[in-house]
Amino acid sequence: MVSDNIIKQQAQVTRKMKEAQNGHRSVVLWFTGLPCSGKSATAFSVEKMLYSMGAKTMVLDGDNVRHGLCSNLGFSMSDRQENIRRTGEVARLFIEAGVITMTAFISPLRSYRDAVRVLMGNDDFIEIFCDCSLQICEQRDVKGHYKRAAAGEIKEFTGVSSPYEPPEHPEIILRTDMFSIEQCTEQVIGYLKKRQVL
Ligand code: ADX
Repeated sequence: MVSDNIIKQQAQVTRKMKEAQNGHRSVVLWFTGLPCSGKSATAFSVEKMLYSMGAKTMVLDGDNVRHGLCSNLGFSMSDRQENIRRTGEVARLFIEAGVITMTAFISPLRSYRDAVRVLMGNDDFIEIFCDCSLQICEQRDVKGHYKRAAAGEIKEFTGVSSPYEPPEHPEIILRTDMFSIEQCTEQVIGYLKKRQVL
């Protein structure tokens, strides 16, 4: 912290009260994976399902957050780390608001993700690995980025010229190369019921 003389203020309406009113716990579902591995599609699909069940939700998506809160950040490793740090802090605020929060960021290094896990605590942080081979991600190439990265037009592209470290012990592994978005959504909802988030 750069500034001194800052004292935390206590809210009168607590997270517990908000969770009770919402009828569910608040957690972060942290989707991680290569570009085109299905993070955003699955996160938005899970949100749709949760919404239909009456839950309070928010999706923080890398492409969207980079248009605003993180618009001053690029794709160097230090900028990616800062991108994830800020997103972790925002997710923490949403958790305080009693909201089930989904984040869809490559979040390429374990250390970045682990730092968010430490910030939240294990009870609130559910890491979801969108497990899809690089080959299939390259075939999908929905935005044409892999092609441009291979041609040298995009530098430091994850999976091609910038690293991605898969999680070692994620709470959930989604085989997005084998199962549909609907099936992956069901898997996440099933896990949330088992963990008594819902
Ligand atoms: S992260 O590495 O900092 O977690 P983030 O998820 O926010 O990345 O952003 C990834 C999105 O930015 C991708 O969906 C892709 O469309 C776009 N993008 C642009 N340049 C790059 C790059 N060099 N590496 C990865 N993604 C990139």
